[in-house]
Amino acid sequence: MKKMTEKTIQDALAGESQAYAKYLIFADVAREEGYPNVAKLFEAIAYAERIHIRNHMEALGGLTNTAEHIKKALGGENFEVEEMYDAFMAVANHQEEKAAVKTHRLAFEAEKSHAEAFEKALSSVESSKDISTEEVYICPTCGYSSESSPPERCPVCKVKGEKFLKF
Ligand SMILES: [Fe+2]
Ligand SMILES: [Fe+2]
Repeated sequence: MKKMTEKTIQDALAGESQAYAKYLIFADVAREEGYPNVAKLFEAIAYAERIHIRNHMEALGGLTNTAEHIKKALGGENFEVEEMYDAFMAVANHQEEKAAVKTHRLAFEAEKSHAEAFEKALSSVESSKDISTEEVYICPTCGYSSESSPPERCPVCKVKGEKFLKF
């Protein structure tokens, strides 16, 4: 694909991906505010954006197989842990922006658990085996992930394990 054209799809993919994530969060807020039908509308349109995202990914040749996808995911998580959040926290600290330091730090700590989970999944899938973990638990405050069972308290933000969401 020509570079200029490729860039148009990458830009579209980035925009649609942001819209998808935002709509799902807007749906949560709508539900909290007592608008369940608006929440459904956000979720439905989010799903539509997800279709565009998949189409854009396919056009870019970005979908291959699960082992390759886990490697990509792992690369992203490791980048966030090893470079991105570290640098972002330094900037936020330097500028004494407390809210920014907090959100970067929570993500930084939680991303490590994602990288570990993908690491394990990769070695399984590379020998053509599904992972034995049937349930994954996610902290609703910081996004820390825990396989098989939730911890008593989140090691990152101390939320009680019973609040974790099961997937
Ligand atoms: Fe992550
Ligand atoms: Fe947490």
